[in-house]
Amino acid sequence: MTAIYSAVIGVGSYIPGQILTNYDLERILKERWPDGPDDKWTDNKWILERTGIVERHIATAQETNASMGAMAARRALHNAGIAIKDIDFIVCATNTNRVNFPSCAMIIQDILGGNKTRGNHKDIPGYDIQAGCTAFNYALAAADDGIRAGRYARGLVIGVDKLTDITDYSDRNTCVLFGDLASAWVIEKAKKPGIIKHHLGGDGSGKAQLVMTDKRHIWMNGREVFKFASRAIADCCKEIIKDTGYKLKDVKIIPHQANKRITEAAEKMLGAQAYSNIDRFGNTSAASYPYAFEEALGNGWLREDDLVILVGFGAGLTYGANLIKVGKLKT
Ligand code: UT7
Repeated sequence: MTAIYSAVIGVGSYIPGQILTNYDLERILKERWPDGPDDKWTDNKWILERTGIVERHIATAQETNASMGAMAARRALHNAGIAIKDIDFIVCATNTNRVNFPSCAMIIQDILGGNKTRGNHKDIPGYDIQAGCTAFNYALAAADDGIRAGRYARGLVIGVDKLTDITDYSDRNTCVLFGDLASAWVIEKAKKPGIIKHHLGGDGSGKAQLVMTDKRHIWMNGREVFKFASRAIADCCKEIIKDTGYKLKDVKIIPHQANKRITEAAEKMLGAQAYSNIDRFGNTSAASYPYAFEEALGNGWLREDDLVILVGFGAGLTYGANLIKVGKLKT
C-alpha cells in the first residue's frame, strides 16, 4: 500500500490594522496609575530590551476571533486555488474565543459557507484546539493524522487569537507582550511528506504558571515560563530531528514568538537559524508561528524545499513541534 502524507498547499493571514506601540503603553500605564508607584509603569527601553517588541497589531471590537480567522482562511483557500466546498474539515487553534461553544471553527465554517444551509454540498466538521501558544502545532498534528489515516483529503488549519480581549492593561508584567492576529493553512493529502513528523508534549505540573483568571485576564509567572520555554524549544527540536536522517544544521527554525531573547538563545543552543518578527507583532499565541511561516516565505527567508521546524510552547504547560518540508507555495 502506498503511504499517505499531508502537505501545506496554501497559507493566508489577517492582520488587524490598528497598531499599539511601546510609547502608547507607556502612556496607558501612566494614565492607569497616575500617582505611580514606579513599579506600575513601563517604558519603551524596558520592553525593547527584555522582549524585542516594538509594536503590535490590535483588533477593534468588531474584529472577532471568527471574523479574523475567516478572513485568513479565505486568503489561504485563494492562495491554494481551492474553494470551501473542497475542504473536508476545519480545525481552529485558539485560546481566546469569547465563548466555549459554539467553537470558533464552526462560526468560521458558517461565515465561509461550509454547510448545506449555506449551499455547500456537505456540512464540514469543525472543532477547536486550545493548548496555549502550542495550539497551532497540536492542530496541525491532528490534521496531519486525519489525512494520513485516509479519512480526509483536505483540511483548513487556522490559528487565531485576540489576546487584547484578555489582557489586563493595568498589569505591566503582561500587557506589553500581546497582540492580535490570524493565520490559516490549507493542507492536503500528498504522495511525499510535506509534514514529516510531529512531536507533542506537556507538563501539567506547570499549569499554574500561565492562566486565565476568573476575571478573564492573562496572568503569567514570566520567569518560570521563560525557563520552561527555553528548555522546551531545545528539547523539541532535538527530539523531532531524531530518526529522520536530518541534522539540526539542515533545518531552519520558526519558534513561537514570545520573546526575542528566547529565540536568540535557541539559535545559539541549536546552531540553527531562527526566524523572528516579534518586533512588529508581539506575542500572538496560536497565530504567531503559522503567520511567521507565511511572512518568511514572502520575504525569501524560507524557500521551496527548505526544512523547517515550527516549535511552540505555552499554557498547560504544553510544547510541540512539526517538521515540515516546504512545498511550492504562493503568498
Ligand atoms: O506565550 C506563552 C509563553 N510565554 C513566554 O514564553 C514568556 C516568557 N517570559 C518572558 O518572556 C519574560 O519573563 C517577560 C518578558 C515576561 C519578563 O521579562 P523578565 O526579564 O523575566 O523580567 P522579570 O519578570 O524577571 O522582571 C524583572 C523586573 C521586575 O522588577 P524588579 O522586581 O526587579 O524590581 C519587574 O517588576 O522588571 C519589572 N517589569 C517591568 N518593568 C518595566 C516587569 N514588566 C515590566 C515592564 N516595564 N513592562
